[in-house]
Amino acid sequence: MINLVTNAAHAYDAGGVVEVSLQRVTNLEVERTSGIHLKPGEYLQLRVTDQGRGMDADTLKRAFDPFFTTRAHGEGTGLGLSVVHGIVESHGGSIDIASVSGSGTSVLVHLPAAQLDDNRKDLKICPRGCGEHIMYVDDEEALVALMKIALTKRGYQVSGYTDPAVALQEFSKQPHQFRAVITDVAMPRMSGPQLAAKLREIRSDVPIILTSGYIREEDRQAAQELQIDQLVYKSNTIEELAEGLANEIAMHARKQRQD
Ligand SMILES: Nc1ncnc2c1ncn2[C@@H]1O[C@H](COP(=O)(O)OP(=O)(O)OP(=O)(O)O)[C@@H](O)[C@H]1O
Ligand SMILES: [Mg+2]
Repeated sequence: MINLVTNAAHAYDAGGVVEVSLQRVTNLEVERTSGIHLKPGEYLQLRVTDQGRGMDADTLKRAFDPFFTTRAHGEGTGLGLSVVHGIVESHGGSIDIASVSGSGTSVLVHLPAAQLDDNRKDLKICPRGCGEHIMYVDDEEALVALMKIALTKRGYQVSGYTDPAVALQEFSKQPHQFRAVITDVAMPRMSGPQLAAKLREIRSDVPIILTSGYIREEDRQAAQELQIDQLVYKSNTIEELAEGLANEIAMHARKQRQD
C-alpha cells in the first residue's frame, strides 16, 4: 500500500487525487471487466488509481525490474514495485498495471480471498515470544511501526529504530537488554551488515536477523562473514520472520546453557 500510493502521489507534479478501492470479486468478474486471467475462485481486488503523468511503454515494461527507477538519483531505489510484486506473488495473487502516458495509471492487485473455515482448519500455531526485548531497525518508518505491532502481538517487547546510529547508541548503553536484533540490509549511512558488525564488536553473541526487500550475492556473503544465518525477504510472511526469531532466541539460549 505504501509503495503503490507513494508511486501514485509521485505521478503528480502539483497534487491530485489518488483513489484506493477494495472489492471482493470472482475470477470470472475479473476476466470480464479487465481481461485478467486468474485461477478459479474468489479474490480481493485492490485498485490504486491516479491521473498523473502515466508511463510510456518502455517504462511500463520495466516497472517491476529491481532497481529500475525514473526518479532523480538518490531519490528512488526502484525497489518499490519489485517488492510489491514479490509480496503479491508469495500470496498466490497477481498484479497488473494499466497506464497511459500523460493521463494516469491504475494498479490492480488480486489476492486470493481467505475462506474462513479453511482458515480455521490450517491456522498454524505461530511461534511466540514471552516478553523478550527485540531491537528492530529499518529506515522505513512505516515498516518499523507495522513490525512493532506485529511482533508485539506475538509476545515480544519491541524497540524500533529508523536510524541505525541511534540503534547502535542504545545498544552500547546496555548490550544485554536485547535478546535479538532484526535489521534491514539497505539503509543510508550505515548498512545492516555494518550495523551488525558493530553490534557484534560490542557483544559477540547477539542473535541478529537481516531482512531485505532484495537480497544480493554480496549481502549473502556479508551475512556469512558475520555468521548470520537468517537472511529474510521482506516479502516473506511475518510468520516466517517470527519463526526465524524464535529459532534464533532458542538457539542462543541452548548455546548459553552449554557454555
Ligand atoms: N503510478 C505511477 N505513475 C507513473 N509512473 C509510475 C507509477 N508507479 C511506478 N511508476 C514508474 O515505475 C518506476 C519504478 O517504480 P518503483 O516503485 O519500483 O520504484 P521508484 O518509485 O522509482 O523508487 P522507490 O519505490 O524506491 O521510491 C518509477 O520510477 C516510475 O517511473
Ligand atoms: Mg516506488
